[in-house]
Amino acid sequence: MRFNIAIDGPSAAGKSTIAKILAKELGYAHLDTGAMYRCVGYYSKLHHVDQKDEDALVAMMKEMEIAFDSDGHVFINQEDVSTEIRQNDISMMASNVSVFPKVRAHLVNLQQKIAANKGYILDGRDIGTVVLPDAEIKIFMVASVEARAKRRYKEYLDKQIEADYDVIYKDIETRDYQDTHRATSPLKKAEDALEIDTSAMSIDEVVIAIQSYISAKLG
Ligand code: DC
Repeated sequence: MRFNIAIDGPSAAGKSTIAKILAKELGYAHLDTGAMYRCVGYYSKLHHVDQKDEDALVAMMKEMEIAFDSDGHVFINQEDVSTEIRQNDISMMASNVSVFPKVRAHLVNLQQKIAANKGYILDGRDIGTVVLPDAEIKIFMVASVEARAKRRYKEYLDKQIEADYDVIYKDIETRDYQDTHRATSPLKKAEDALEIDTSAMSIDEVVIAIQSYISAKLG
């Protein structure tokens, strides 16, 4: 039987890294929903659309086709934007546009359509609570701001993207606040989610913990 897995948590908690590994091991598909909000932030910057104007953003989104390939590359209207949407300024823009209910409704609808066939791992902020409230497995990954800032900083250096640790640390704090305090679908643990604090865990340890949870729950 195929099922869906929801992985939620604050920025840089390691959700996408873990989701990718689990997807490979289970033969499932991975959908990084944060990448979709990043696409909206990036595209609005590119086309000078006011990021405080909800209706203008929605009109823009109607002209955007967001797609993924099986390697996790992200495309807007067939153009590969995988690198562009990972820039640090786009992280904040994604968080900014994600406060709007109509922007969220549009993307949530898309995410639900994609995951309808089961066999998906979705990672984001509202997967277990809003996008897939019936997901068989729900994980809520957390980690200290320091642990997450260190990981993000290293990730940027590895990818040869210019980075400033203090800026990253502050941005994570700001995004945490913004993502947990917005009125529509704020970041929140679903009641039936397993919470894992990854601050002092390796990637392998997190994967093993989730795998044993899946086996214990679904056999
Ligand atoms: O996961 P990420 O850091 O790539 O996400 C970027 C921003 O998008 C995040 O700060 C908040 C928003 N987001 C959201 O509101 N809901 C989701 N399901 C995923 C991301």
